[in-house]
Amino acid sequence: MKRHVALNVNGEEYEIEMEPNRLLLYALRDDIGLTGTKEGCSIGVCGACSVIVGGRLVSSCLTLAVACRGKEITTIEGLARDGRLHPLQQAFLEYGGFQCGICTPGQIIAAKALLDSNPHPTEEEIKEWMSGNLCRCTGYYKIFESIMAVVQGKVRVEDQRAREHREARIQSLGVYKSES
Ligand code: FES
Ligand code: FES
Repeated sequence: MKRHVALNVNGEEYEIEMEPNRLLLYALRDDIGLTGTKEGCSIGVCGACSVIVGGRLVSSCLTLAVACRGKEITTIEGLARDGRLHPLQQAFLEYGGFQCGICTPGQIIAAKALLDSNPHPTEEEIKEWMSGNLCRCTGYYKIFESIMAVVQGKVRVEDQRAREHREARIQSLGVYKSES
């Protein structure tokens, strides 16, 4: 029998009718429409579905949505603020921390959970923590380098206007070709 469940995701309240065995992954993606969280293995191995619930990193493919009532849920969509990317998002862009992008929301969320609890992890601590997030494209070094850049304070986050200005300059240089 369906139940009425209130979930707090990225600071917004969502009221959803769901079966008691509804997984958080599907509640986020299909009921709420936040498709940034990805499904990979579906068995808690790849980390693509990682989200933060009540300050803890969890695999949303193994977590019941009803178990998240009353807790703050953070997904990749909740990281950018006021037109500014989160430093980890900026770093993944600048340091090439992704290729196809399927694992990227989970990688960034996992890295955020690490830095929230330990803002200055060692290289070994980063490698060990991130070992639960698999990537089939980047070879991991770029992901590691992106996280290290944030730890070392090398990332300057652009606001939206600055980013649009930079992209307009790139376009004016003819880097992007029109399709016509
Ligand atoms: S989809 Fe959840 S860990 Fe792989
Ligand atoms: S960027 Fe493609 S799987 Fe990680």
